[in-house]
Amino acid sequence: MLSPMRTQVGIIGAGPAGLLLSHLLHLRGISSVILERRSRDYVERRVRAGVLEQGTVDTLVESGVGERLLREGLVHEGIELRYGGAGHRVAFEKLVPGRSITVYGQQEVVKDLIAARLAAGADIRFEVDDVAVHSLEDAPYITFGGERLDCDFIAGCDGFHGVSRPSVPEGVITTYEREYPFAWLGILARVAPSAEELIYAQTGRGFALHSMRSPEISRFYLQVPAGEDLDEWPDERIWAELKARLETVPGFALATGEIIEKGITPLRSFVAEPMRHERLFLAGDAAHIVPPTGAKGLNLAVADVRVLTEALTRFYADGSTALLDDYSDICLKRVWRAQHFSWWMTTLLHTFDSDDAYGRRLQTSYLDYVTASDAAATTLAENYVGLPYEVLP
Ligand code: FAD
Ligand code: DHB
Repeated sequence: MLSPMRTQVGIIGAGPAGLLLSHLLHLRGISSVILERRSRDYVERRVRAGVLEQGTVDTLVESGVGERLLREGLVHEGIELRYGGAGHRVAFEKLVPGRSITVYGQQEVVKDLIAARLAAGADIRFEVDDVAVHSLEDAPYITFGGERLDCDFIAGCDGFHGVSRPSVPEGVITTYEREYPFAWLGILARVAPSAEELIYAQTGRGFALHSMRSPEISRFYLQVPAGEDLDEWPDERIWAELKARLETVPGFALATGEIIEKGITPLRSFVAEPMRHERLFLAGDAAHIVPPTGAKGLNLAVADVRVLTEALTRFYADGSTALLDDYSDICLKRVWRAQHFSWWMTTLLHTFDSDDAYGRRLQTSYLDYVTASDAAATTLAENYVGLPYEVLP
C-alpha cells in the first residue's frame, strides 16, 4: 500500500452529486478528493436526465458553473400532457409565475463541473478499482486500488449500485421500495424537435415522452415491459411506436432522424433512511431513486448536496454538528415529496397491464381534472419546476 493521502471530505462517485459537492466545498475552502470507478470519457458521455429545476439552475449559476448552461440551455415555461386525442398545456408562466425549467443534458452538467474542478486543481481519480470504506465511527478512510485516503468525512455519491450504502452495518438503514412492471427505452436522435415543449403522452399503447437537447437533437422515451431486450427494438420499430403514441392529435407529425444513442432504464422508487451513518453521508441516487417521469432524480441530488455543503461548512467553521445531525431529516422531507410526485406522475401517465377498465377510467378522470382545474395543474406545475429549498435552521 502506498503512503496514505489525506483530505477533509472523501467523495465516492463523479456523478452530478459528487462533482457538485466537491465544487461547492471548494468554494467554502474545504478540500475533497473524488474517487470514480469509470473513465472521464464514460461519465461525460453517459446520457441521462435533461430537466433542470429552477433551483438547480440557480445553484449552478450562482456557484460559477452556469455559463454554458445559460447560453445553451433551453428555458421552458410549460409542458404538454397529451391523451385522448388532444394536447393540454400546463402553463408554468400562469400557474407558477417566475419559475421555469431548463432543458440541458446531465452529461453537459457533468462536463461543466469536471472542467471547473480540474481548472481549480482538484484531485479527481477516474477508473479506480475496489473502493471500500472503513472505520466510519471515528477516523474514516477509503481504500482503492492499493491506495488509502484518510478523511474527516465520507460522502457516498456513488449512485444506486455503489458501495457506500451497502457498507452501512445491517439494521441501521431502513429501505422503502417499489418496482414498476415497465422500463423506459430512451433514444437520442439527430433531428430537430417536433414540438417546442416537452410532450408527456398517455396512450393505450403505453407512455411516450418527447424531449430534446438542442435545436438539432431530440430525446424520446417509450414505456416498454420491464426486462425488455434492446435488440427487440430496431430503429424502425422505435420510430413506428413513437409515431403511434405521439401522432395522436390533429396536425402533429413526428420528424425522424438518425438514432445516435439507445438505452433501457428500469423504473424504480427507493428510499434509504437515514441517509447518514456516523461519518458517512449518502447523497443523490445512493440514497434514493425515483422513476424518471417527474424529472426529479438529478434535482434531488443537487438539493442533498446543498444541505451537506452547508452542514460541513458550519462544522469546519466552529465545530458545530447540529446541521450534520439534521442532514438526513432535512433531505428526506424533500425526497419523500419528490417520491410521491414521481410515483403520481408515473401512475397518471403509464399503462398498467394489471389495470382493469375501472382503473383506466380513473386515470382518464384524473388527467381530465389536472388539465381542467388550475388548482390541480398548479400542484403539478409547482412540483415539476421544483418546490423552494428548505430554509436551514
Ligand atoms: P450517478 O449519476 O449515478 O453517479 C454516481 C457515480 O458513482 C457514477 O459516476 C458511478 O460510475 C460512480 N460509482 C458507482 N459505484 C462506484 C464505486 N464502487 N466506486 C467509485 N465510483 C462509483 N433526473 C432528473 O432530475 N431529471 C430528469 O429529466 C431525469 N431523467 C432521467 C432519465 C433517465 C433515462 C435516467 C436513467 C435518469 C434520469 N434522471 C433524471 C435521474 C438522474 O439521472 C439521476 O438521479 C442522477 O444521475 C443522480 O446523480 P448521482 O450523482 O446521485 O448518481
Ligand atoms: C427528460 C427526462 C425525463 O425523465 C423527463 O421527465 C423529461 C425529460 C430528458 O431526458 O429530456
